[in-house]
Amino acid sequence: MKLWQVDSEFSASAEADLLNNSLPVDQRMNLVDVIGSKAWTKNLARYGILTKDEMDQMLDGLDQIQEEFESKTFTYLADDEDIHTAVERRLGELIGALAGKLHSGRSRNDQVATDFRMWVLGAAQEMVNTMEQYQNALIRRAEKDMGIIFPGYTHFQQAQPILLSHWWLSHFWAIQRDKIRLNNLISMTDSMPLGSGALSGSGFAFDRHALATDLGFAEPTPNSLDAISDRDFAVEFLFITSLTGTHLSRMAEALVLFCSKEFGFMQFTDQFSTGSSLMPQKRNPDMMELVRGKAGTLLGKLTGLMATLKGLPSAYDKDLQEDKEPVFEAFDTLQLLLKVCIQAIPGITVYPEKILNKMDPAMLATDLADYLVEKNVPFREAHHAIAKAVKVAEELNLSLQHLPLDQWQRIHPVCDDEILDLFTFERSIARKDSWGGTSKRSVTEQLAYAKRKLSA
Ligand code: ARG
Repeated sequence: MKLWQVDSEFSASAEADLLNNSLPVDQRMNLVDVIGSKAWTKNLARYGILTKDEMDQMLDGLDQIQEEFESKTFTYLADDEDIHTAVERRLGELIGALAGKLHSGRSRNDQVATDFRMWVLGAAQEMVNTMEQYQNALIRRAEKDMGIIFPGYTHFQQAQPILLSHWWLSHFWAIQRDKIRLNNLISMTDSMPLGSGALSGSGFAFDRHALATDLGFAEPTPNSLDAISDRDFAVEFLFITSLTGTHLSRMAEALVLFCSKEFGFMQFTDQFSTGSSLMPQKRNPDMMELVRGKAGTLLGKLTGLMATLKGLPSAYDKDLQEDKEPVFEAFDTLQLLLKVCIQAIPGITVYPEKILNKMDPAMLATDLADYLVEKNVPFREAHHAIAKAVKVAEELNLSLQHLPLDQWQRIHPVCDDEILDLFTFERSIARKDSWGGTSKRSVTEQLAYAKRKLSA
């Protein structure tokens, strides 16, 4: 019989039970549930529903349950419908009929909303910490690769030369914003639903402010209906994990390409690539492919919960029980992806020579246009002139840097022999010297700034 059941004649079918029971998923909230119940016990005593002695007995029982959870010795029973009823059932075994007083003035609706918020608060903090380790790996990589010249791409066509460190750091800043999102989520989730009852508030005028302080929340929620309906924090958690997944995927996709034979820019250690069962020569970047693939799975969890919430009326509906599984899974998945990236990035071998060999001098076209601009040619005219030069070089079957001076002067009369010195990637990179640019000086400043942000 279920804890709430009054008549054993109307038992659910095995399938209905399977559908209804959430214990396999929500037992993950066991610790926060028992912590919530301990605060609730004190709340009941403050109000006078429990005597001091009853409170002490109840707290002892709950302490023991907590200990059983921590040592993984708690035994769940088939009739435990969810984590909340499992705790209350066990408390009854430990302290007898007194356990029946625990749920006074409380509903599982405000209880689950509180537990889940507490769990998400802890998970968000843990994720911030893992993200920082990942950022640290990027910083160390940017330091190690400082000075390595790399092609910057747009439309995945070589566009302008950059420093490889600039590329690594670009991934740092995306995660920096995701961390801010998580911290925002933490402050928005930091209100306590407990004491909202089933929907309209508790029938006893509890001091919810004291209860919130006890549980470590910044404040109690201001509206009982909103408090038990709200799953914004779960959606937002899924959005952030999905966005971070997308950020990781962006990097992973580029690394897959850079490690291919066609590029040959980098290589993962064997630990992070796998062989093929058929082709002995293969070294597949499976880990990065999975990072990319899981980003899709993470997005699915977000859209899944949004679809569940859309169309629900206000207050608690059992559909809301579907909120936890995607959140728990998204947490596990993203933690795993971050950890794999943290481990894989330091060991990547970079081949600066091969990179340079593959870099097209036409990437300096913008610098040539800038050169004309400095000679007082309007940019639009300069752009046309350089486009023409690219064409002429193609026609003559020359690469742009081998175009002779007389050709340049035919293309634009302001050209002098200085133009022949412009053909170095170093020079191009050094020119991008304003804040946020790719010059070595700028990137060194950026690196120092990133480190300051990380230790702030
Ligand atoms: N297992 C439920 C959930 O996760 C707990 C709340 C049950 N509330 C109820 N009115 N049946 O949503």
